[in-house]
Amino acid sequence: MKKTSQHGQWSSRMVFILAATGSAVGLGNIWKFPYIAGENGGGAFVLTYLLCILAIGLPIMMAEIMLGRRGRQSPINTMRVLAVESNASALWSWLGWLGVVAGFLILSYYSVIAGWAMAYVVRVASGVFDGATADGVSHIFGEFIADPEKLLAWHSLFMIITMLVVARGVKGLERAAKFLMPALILILILLVGYSMNQGAFQQGVSFLFSADFSKINAAGVLTAMGHAFFTLSLGMGAIMVYGSYLPSRVSIGSTTVIIALADTAVALLAGLAIFPIVFANGLTPASGPGLIFQTLPIAFGHMAYGAFFGTLFFLLLVFAAWSSSISLIEPAVAWLVENRKMSRMRACIWAGLLTWLIGIGTVLSFNLAADLTVFGKTFFDLMDYLTANIMLPLGGLCIALFAGWVMAAETSAKELSLPNDHIYKAWRFIVRYVSPVAVLLVFLNVIGLI
Ligand code: PFF
Repeated sequence: MKKTSQHGQWSSRMVFILAATGSAVGLGNIWKFPYIAGENGGGAFVLTYLLCILAIGLPIMMAEIMLGRRGRQSPINTMRVLAVESNASALWSWLGWLGVVAGFLILSYYSVIAGWAMAYVVRVASGVFDGATADGVSHIFGEFIADPEKLLAWHSLFMIITMLVVARGVKGLERAAKFLMPALILILILLVGYSMNQGAFQQGVSFLFSADFSKINAAGVLTAMGHAFFTLSLGMGAIMVYGSYLPSRVSIGSTTVIIALADTAVALLAGLAIFPIVFANGLTPASGPGLIFQTLPIAFGHMAYGAFFGTLFFLLLVFAAWSSSISLIEPAVAWLVENRKMSRMRACIWAGLLTWLIGIGTVLSFNLAADLTVFGKTFFDLMDYLTANIMLPLGGLCIALFAGWVMAAETSAKELSLPNDHIYKAWRFIVRYVSPVAVLLVFLNVIGLI
């Protein structure tokens, strides 16, 4: 096996943690988690999600990083090489392809929503939310998403800045992440402080944490599980490709725990900031993808220096989205460079163009094509469902099966080099039995077979 990847290597464990946390923490934590928690009744959903992070996300993340580091190539080639090493079928490289397609589809809508956040940097800075009411804020949001040209312009801008960074390599961005990620967490804490004083904090906390399991159904459990994959960037090769740049001596176990903890903390902080504002202003938790854009501006409109903090918040959110987008497209770009012998720049242009085109479907699904639905879902809903609820869990299931059943135990033990044999045995048991069975049960339950 190669010692390093042709695309380079992270300079230290810290840089890898920053990059992987940068991939994990993004719109999923601050935009998506609160609104899907709101749509699925709160507490029971949150608890299911936390359980999925622990029992499925953590062990699969270790597996994915381990496979990446062992293969040292794009996920497609890594899976092929590792399958050959294990005397298994080279068809496992299809797992890499599944991930590349999922990456394109996710980024296509992710970029549109990141565009909303960019637009809100400008809006909040201009002071339009000063003293705003819940109705006023909702109205501004409604007008904004009804305008396809604006959404398209912001989507295009976001795709351009993403592809620029991917083309030039991610080093600079990782250095910036060192400051920006803590800053985002600080502003979230400030917002939680606002919600404690001005929002219906008790009500928000009990919505998020008191679990009433009658409120969650099979589809909700699937959404919670899918979100565990989405939020940790698992199941599509993003973390695998980052793992392929990881120096051999770094311990995978403790690194994974740090990334998952940071990611979960950001999501819970976002929830604690948002729901007290929802209840204090008579908004409904199930407001859908507009939730943060209809709640947080109320807080920024009323707190001291709100325009300043609000601008900073949306800027940091854009940054968080940016560092996630890069990892969504990296598996495809790495493959184009390896197999099509393209320069990074050319690979980025092609990958970026394709993603941008698919994203137009999402842009239109909020306005002109809002009534165009398949199975009751708009284009955006369909992309989201297909990727987060089906492709990522399926990818994760295959990763667990490969790491647990196909790869030799000595190989995974050596590559993971966990602190002791008990932890290794526990990990192996989970990826062989617990995670795959859990994913399968949820799938079967949703399609009504059990
Ligand atoms: N984890 C990112 C978020 O929570 O916003 C989204 C994401 C990034 C999903 C990379 C999948 C991925 F491969």
